[in-house]
Amino acid sequence: MLKIENLSKSYAKSEVKAVDGLSLELKPGEIFGFLGPNGAGKTTTIKILTGILQYEEGSVSVCGYDLKTQSNDAKRNIGYVSDSHVIYDKLTGREYVDFMADVYGVDIATRKERADRLLEKFELTDAFDSQIKTYSHGMKQKISIIGALIHNPNLWVLDEPMTGLDPQSAFQLKELMRAHCAEGKTVFFSTHVLEVAEKICDRIGIIVKGKLIIAGNLEEIKAAQGDSSLEDIFLSVAGGRHE
Ligand SMILES: Nc1ncnc2c1ncn2[C@@H]1O[C@H](COP(=O)(O)OP(=O)(O)O)[C@@H](O)[C@H]1O
Ligand SMILES: [Mg+2]
Repeated sequence: MLKIENLSKSYAKSEVKAVDGLSLELKPGEIFGFLGPNGAGKTTTIKILTGILQYEEGSVSVCGYDLKTQSNDAKRNIGYVSDSHVIYDKLTGREYVDFMADVYGVDIATRKERADRLLEKFELTDAFDSQIKTYSHGMKQKISIIGALIHNPNLWVLDEPMTGLDPQSAFQLKELMRAHCAEGKTVFFSTHVLEVAEKICDRIGIIVKGKLIIAGNLEEIKAAQGDSSLEDIFLSVAGGRHE
């Protein structure tokens, strides 16, 4: 579904790599949680695999399509929820979702059925014809999720998606992630919230200073680390524990 091999990326003028030799393979039907402290390289990795940022070294493929040489085919298979929602402020929710549906070639009946179901789930139906700039952060997050799912992507990528969501919406989002994977699709999301990762991920990875330090099944990781809690494991590999 997603294969990242030996990926590295440096920003201009920076001597350290924001992503450093990262390899990762995600299978159909799994939820993968991408954990790491601030500045670890989570957003950079996500922006690379969604085709927003260029990379110097390594390779990325989505559903067998190489991101550099077959970028349109690769991107067609991705739905992306960014960590900031300032770009489409002037559109209404409906215009934004229609725009996304047009980009991905979703027919009118299908987009309506998908949008209606998600709007109802997120209690956003009444705001659908208001400009996105009038939305709260949580509402922007929700419309961004609807836009990302309108073409029912094989790989759904979310950057810090729980930020700003109330408990009900966070619950709905977790349900959506599970439902997505139950269809044999894949979810890749970054988070600071260890409890969320612990609850819903099939596998997790911890990235520190651009390097993937740990990746695997939660139970296996815990067993390998002497049955510690995810918090203990995170603090010991990511630093931050003050002895
Ligand atoms: N546009 C940018 N220009 C230069 N450096 C950047 C830029 N974006 C991120 N970085 C740096 O790259 C590293 C990884 O950042 P980021 O991917 O945003 O981490 P995370 O999402 O895990 O918090 C950090 O050291 C950050 O300062
Ligand atoms: Mg980030």
